[in-house]
Amino acid sequence: MMANSRSLLVVLLTLAMTTLHPIAVDANFFSSVYFYWGNQHSAIRGSGDDLQLVLDQTSGSGIKSTGTFLFGSIEMLIKLVPGNSAGTVTAYYVSSTGDGHDEIDFEFLGNVSGQPYIIHTNIFTQGNGNREQQFHPWFDPTADFHNYTIHWNPTAVVWYVDSVPIRVFRNYENEGIAYPNKQGMSVYSSLWNADNWATQGGRIKIDWNSAPFIAKYRNFRAQACNWNGAVSIGTCASNIPGNWWTSPTHSRLSDAKLGQMNWVRDIYMIYDYCKDTKRFKGQMPPECFKPQY
Ligand SMILES: *[C@@H]1O[C@H](CO)[C@@H](O)[C@H](O)[C@H]1NC(C)=O
Ligand SMILES: *[C@@H]1O[C@H](CO)[C@@H](O)[C@H](O)[C@H]1NC(C)=O
Repeated sequence: MMANSRSLLVVLLTLAMTTLHPIAVDANFFSSVYFYWGNQHSAIRGSGDDLQLVLDQTSGSGIKSTGTFLFGSIEMLIKLVPGNSAGTVTAYYVSSTGDGHDEIDFEFLGNVSGQPYIIHTNIFTQGNGNREQQFHPWFDPTADFHNYTIHWNPTAVVWYVDSVPIRVFRNYENEGIAYPNKQGMSVYSSLWNADNWATQGGRIKIDWNSAPFIAKYRNFRAQACNWNGAVSIGTCASNIPGNWWTSPTHSRLSDAKLGQMNWVRDIYMIYDYCKDTKRFKGQMPPECFKPQY
């Protein structure tokens, strides 16, 4: 009796694990995204593995995933606009819609030739953002494709660049800090003119002689939990791949990953809202006092 019900439980658990395993959206852009903006001059190429977004004087462009997700590991390989990209911004983010939205951002701020991009990150929870952290890349992001991954599970959000974690936002909901765990999000990427603020604080304007500006994409992969409007924090989320949070003994980055993150943050971080006491007039956001790794 005991043994039987235990083996039944094992079977049921195994079934649940397989059926609720996060779906892996394949790298085919034709089936996984659509153009919500500027499709007239952007293109999905080849058999659907490659995509490009274009910005010229007539318009920028943007894609949105066909799926909506609650938690996932969202990967994209991106080769940013080369040459004089001043004033351009390539955004890659997940966001819900409506009031009090949640959003997790990567934004890449272009620059004049030879000067570094800025990798800008932010997170909105229930409509509140103001959590910017910025980095200079440690490589030329226009020379080749690099892997920008948003890991988002019930425990934490991690921004990865080529598998190096650059930022963590942990779930401190039980301490009154809102966490994005109730609203489904779509994946977006867009390329637009933001020369009123992006490059050197808006001092450098876009040079249309350098247009068209082109950002290239490959390998979109969302290993994510499909969201159908219901709040569900369950088996699917705990199966999202990742090397640390699925293990009860590893509810934080491994020491090796933490070492990499500290290296990036020590050398390449150029702005941290948690250090901007002037901006917040000494009233720092509460998550700034919590461990974020
Ligand atoms: C991209 O980075 C993520 C996070 O480290 C990793 O899981 C994934 O395998 C990488 N993908 C590619 C194509 O390198
Ligand atoms: C552009 O280059 C300047 C000078 O090196 C640098 O201060 C700035 O962070 C770079 N990036 C942007 C987006 O302005």
